[in-house]
Parts: sequence; structure tokens; C-alpha cells
Amino acid sequence: MPQSRPVSDLTEDQAHSELERLAMALNKANSDYHGEDLPLLDDATFDRWKKRNYEIETLFPLLKRADSPSNQVGSRPKDGFGKIRHSQRMLSLGNAFSDGDVEDFVTRIKRFLSIAPELALRMTAEPKIDGLSLAIRYEQGRLVYAVTRGDGEVGEDVTANAKTISDIPLVLSGAPDVLEVRGEVYMTHADFAALNDAQALAGHKSFSNPRNAAAGSLRQLDSKITEARPLLFFAYAWGEVSEPLGATQSEAVRRLNKLGFTTNSLFSECKTTTELLAHYRKIELVRSDLGYDIDGIVYKVDDLSLQSRLGFRTTTPRWAIAHKFPAELAWTELLDIDIQVGRTGALSPVARLNPVTVGGVVVSNATLHNEDYIAGRDSKGGKIRDGKDIRIGDWVQVYRAGDVIPKISDVDLSRRGLGSKPFDFASKLKLEAIEGSREEGDAVWRYSGSEPLPDLAIEGLRHFVSRQAFDIDGLGAKQIEQFYHRGWICAPVEIFTLKQRFGTGQLQQLSNLEGWGEKSAENLFDSIDEKRSISLPRLIFALGIRHVGEGAARLLATSFMTWKTFEDAMRAALPGSASWDSLVDIDGIGAVMARSVVAPFQEPWRLLEIRALVAQLDVIPVQPIETSSSPVAGKTVVFTGTLEKMTRAEAKARAESLGAKVSGSVSAKTDILIAGPGAGSKAKKATDFGTFILDEDGWISLIEGL
Ligand code: IVH
Repeated sequence: MPQSRPVSDLTEDQAHSELERLAMALNKANSDYHGEDLPLLDDATFDRWKKRNYEIETLFPLLKRADSPSNQVGSRPKDGFGKIRHSQRMLSLGNAFSDGDVEDFVTRIKRFLSIAPELALRMTAEPKIDGLSLAIRYEQGRLVYAVTRGDGEVGEDVTANAKTISDIPLVLSGAPDVLEVRGEVYMTHADFAALNDAQALAGHKSFSNPRNAAAGSLRQLDSKITEARPLLFFAYAWGEVSEPLGATQSEAVRRLNKLGFTTNSLFSECKTTTELLAHYRKIELVRSDLGYDIDGIVYKVDDLSLQSRLGFRTTTPRWAIAHKFPAELAWTELLDIDIQVGRTGALSPVARLNPVTVGGVVVSNATLHNEDYIAGRDSKGGKIRDGKDIRIGDWVQVYRAGDVIPKISDVDLSRRGLGSKPFDFASKLKLEAIEGSREEGDAVWRYSGSEPLPDLAIEGLRHFVSRQAFDIDGLGAKQIEQFYHRGWICAPVEIFTLKQRFGTGQLQQLSNLEGWGEKSAENLFDSIDEKRSISLPRLIFALGIRHVGEGAARLLATSFMTWKTFEDAMRAALPGSASWDSLVDIDGIGAVMARSVVAPFQEPWRLLEIRALVAQLDVIPVQPIETSSSPVAGKTVVFTGTLEKMTRAEAKARAESLGAKVSGSVSAKTDILIAGPGAGSKAKKATDFGTFILDEDGWISLIEGL
């Protein structure tokens, strides 16, 4: 459903028809979700659409529909179960998606209660369990019935099933005469996985997530089946009670716990919004380790008399709100698969997605890695995603955790179009006129054409200006693209000739570009000039040679010391020559890397380009170390264990450049042992010899500044 237009830009007609579409879609999703245990719409989209619906209604109150999704809590109960009318409606919670929403929530409450903004208001914060809600009624301490939420007014009688849940006591002692306990039925991740395995073995359909498994298990007409399912229950609220459970939310929850119900231990009492948000952050961090799904934190006003003063809106209490976690999974449509030409010539498939919010970020691209990944195979021929291949037009599940690049974790085969065809990598390349080949044993297709591709050039330029390379202020990936497409910068050297090539016409054009002005153009030229002077390791890294990362660049630089020696050696290093041998003799440089380092120097047009660039620069050579000033000159050092801040080869090169002798084994002659985590027999031997032992940090501070 396209929703790109800001609500404030909608005409009345547009608002009217969008409300109609949203009502249809959301009401359908609601009945799929609550009635059939078959969610077709992911939660994040559902919440987004509901929010959009609410925003439009707020702006156009007269257009609010009688069947508005804002008035709906759940859906009609499923046939087959007895119906029970709730003695007090079972409501839903309003949602907060940002810190600002939470602040607004607290401000609204204080305003409603005429509490000065600077005064404290006791609140509680607890996980929002992603299961299904259940009300259990006890009379004289005996369980009389258990009922699902249903549409909030009438739910399904699942008494027999609820009685099989180990967390739900059948009798209570010391409870009020009438007590309706409310809470969430859920399933742990481990139980969910085991259940799905068993379902698969028995040839039954598997559940798509623990919530659906819990719902499907509780709503079995045969309670024997429910009994065999590992359901659990957290109590967090109550309905009708013949006497209060306490004066505050926290007291009441403690009372429920005393009565024998499981309550959540991540419950916290807070005095300020800051404390609420801190609890949210704390739980967000441990969320993935809890072993069960939670989808947010619920904040409630602690004082029950204030709760009753605040009361309810149509379907939600004014005294509570659910602060949702960003969804980490979402379903969307795969619109196309593009081929991206990497800096090193790798041809990588990229998924172009119908934009969707995943983990709080709008995702429209995801990596597809390589041809086999699309086909549902890993590098060893094993299955990934159960062997399901990915096709253009498919509904795909996008997964994003932390900073990781979004991945496609699943494909919904039931929504696959009839005419869809497997993705054909080779034909796609042909269509795009990209020459590529894939060698046996290599998972990746590589560019094999003779002309440099424009995409390759942009990738190379982006790398050239990246933070670890030239790091030019005001010239990031975005500006590089702007300049490249105007033909102003097509190769690294052109960055440094930009100023002299720029006439007043271009300067005018640049000043008119979005994000640029006269002053910023001037600043750009200054920061380019600043980077004319560059260290040898950075320059080598910036060249973007395949396999040469920062570590290897540093190794090469310390071995050759100056640009001239480096360039001469690379030009002379034909396999078999003495220069080649001394290159592969460098610890940490293997034959594969050596081949790719020398390649650009032996290709005439690349060499010309590199030389033109270097002519614009002042390359700072690696300083030979005054070994007399080095505390480790002449010393024999041994590295053992894992080094975390450098590779073994780098550590060795650095130590040698400081005049130390690096040895592989500990003997009486060893002066210093640098021991990282996991150091074993060498460390023990060194202790026996009384050798000086340092950890990696100790070593770094010893040689720092040299
Ligand atoms: S309090 C008046 N606390 O979330 C509503 N609800 O979206 C009182 N939920 O219907 C509900 N964990 O099924 C509350 N700690 C928690 C919860 C929680 C999960 C569910 C519950 C509710 C839904 C609202």
C-alpha cells in the first residue's frame, strides 16, 4: 500500500479513499491474525498502517469510518469454542515508537492529572510478551473458566486447555473471592523449535513463529493436544476483583506472584521518563537472550487510584502504553535483482525491495551474495532457506540484526506468482551487457571485460576517499557520485586537478548544487589540498588493489619504505624474478596477493593513472627507525596467543622495523614474550626462563610513538 505522501499533503478525497483502503486491509489482517493464527501481514507493517490510519483520522476527523480499524481490538471469536462474555472488557494498548512518543505520553498524563511537569510520577516498566492474552477467573480460590480476548467483549472458552498449562494454578489460597487474572500465554524459542521439528516428523505443517504456535496450541478443540504442547503463562494484569490486590500496579503484581502466578522478573519501578527509557534500552540489549519473544516494553502508571482517574479511551487505557521494539524481521516484495560491479570486479547480486521498515530502518536493498545463495545453496552445496530459491516478484522475509547488512532470510512460496522463473545469473549479465565469468571453485562471478566499467570507477573513487584512505572532508561517497555523474571527477587524480580545471562556470554550477554554496566549494578545495600530503601505507590502501586491505598496505609500506622503491619493485616483479621472490618472501604476503599487487603496475593504462596521481601528491615515506632510540632494538621477541589489534605478520614487521629480532619459539635467549589470549606452553616456558612477558596492549604502549 503506497503511503509515501505526508498526511498533511492529502486532499480530502485522497484521505477518504486511503481510509477506506486501510480499513479493508487492516480489518482483514486483524481477522487473519486473531481468527486464523495465520498472519499474512507482518507486525511492523500492521503497526505502521494503523498509525497512518490514526494520523489521517486525526487530521480529517469527519472522515472517520464506522468500521475504523482504530476501534477494533481483535476479531470475532473462532467457531467451535463456547463463548464467554468478559465481565470487564479486555483492551489493547496504544503504541509508542520513539522516545518522543514516550515523553508525549508522560506529558499527556501529567496534564490530565494536573501534575506539574517537573514533578515525579511513579510508573512501571515491563516486557511486552509476544503471545496471546488470556483471562482466568477464580471464584473462592477455584479456577472457573479461562477465556481468550476474542473481540474484547466476547472471547473463546478455553478452560480445559488453560488447565493443562503448568504456570496456571487450579486452586489459589488466600485469594479474593472473585479474581480474574490476566496475562499472556507464550512459548519459548527452544520449545517452539522442538515443536516444529516434531510437526515436521509427523508430516504436519510447521508454525511460523512462537506466537502462532502458542495461539494454535491454546485454541485446540482437543485439550489433549494442548496438554502435549509446552505453553507458559505470565500474569501482568487483572479484571474483576472482589477486593483490590494492592494500592499500586507493582504491589498488585507482587500479590499475583505470591498467589502462585509467574510474573516477569524484568519488572521495574521508575520515577522519570529517563528511567523508563533506560529500562527499555537495558531490556533491548538482552532481548535476544531471553529465550522468548517480547516486542516492546509496557509502561503503566503505578498508582491504581490515578489509573482509575485516567480511565480509558475507546479501546486503550490512558494510563499505559506499549513502547515497541523495532521489528527485526519484515516481509516485502522483491522488485528486482541488480548486478553491482565491485571495486575488485566482483559481480554481486543486490535485491531491490519494496521499501519496508526493519529494525527501525527503512530497507530497500539487501545483499544476495552470489549466484548460489539465490539458488538456495551454500558454498558446499548444502541447502540454505530449506533450499528455496529467490525469484523476482517473490515475497521475501528481510532480516536485519544490529549493523548487519539486511539479508533475505525466507521466501513465501505460497505467494509465488504462477509464471515466475528461477533467476538466471548469466542471462542477466547478458541483458545488462556486462562481460563476466565464473571459475570453478569460485562462488563469485567476476567482471572479465577489457574496458573499465563506470561502476567500477565509482566504487574505486568511493574507496579512495573513504575514512581509512584519503578521508577528504566534504568529499564523501555522495559527493563523489555527484561529481562523477557530471564528469568532473572520473579518476582519483582528477580530485587533485579539480581546482585548476574548474572555471567560473563550473564553480557557479557547483555552488548551485544541492548542499553546496560558494563557501563550501572553497572549503572543499582547501581540504583536498590538505590531503596532498599522504602517508605511504594510506596511499597503497587507497589504490584499491584487490586483496590489499589496510594491514597488507602497512606491510608493503614498511617493507619498501618509499613510493619509488615500491613502484620500481612492483614493475619489476614478474613471477620468477628476484623482485617477485622478495615480494612473496614478505611474511603475510602470499602468491595470490602478490599477483594482484603487481597487476596494476604492469598494465600500461593503470600505471599511467597511478603515476599521474602520485605526481599530484607528496608521499610521506615510512620513517626508518633510529634503532638506537628503540627500546626493543637488538632484543629477541616472541609473539604467542591471539593478537587483537594487528595480524601476526604486521606485528612481526613492526617489531623488525624497530630493530627487534622476531623468533618463533621461546628459549633462554628470548627477551620479551608478547602473549595474547589463549597463550599456552610458550607463556609457561617464558615464565620458567623468567622472560619479560607483556600483553598486546603493554607491547603497543612500549613501542608507541616510535
Ligand atoms: S497490560 C488494558 N502488560 O499486549 C490493557 N499487556 O497490545 C492491559 N501484553 O492485550 C494490558 N505483555 O495481550 C499488558 N506486560 C504486559 C503485556 C501486555 C503483553 C499484550 C496483551 C495486550 C496487548 C496490547
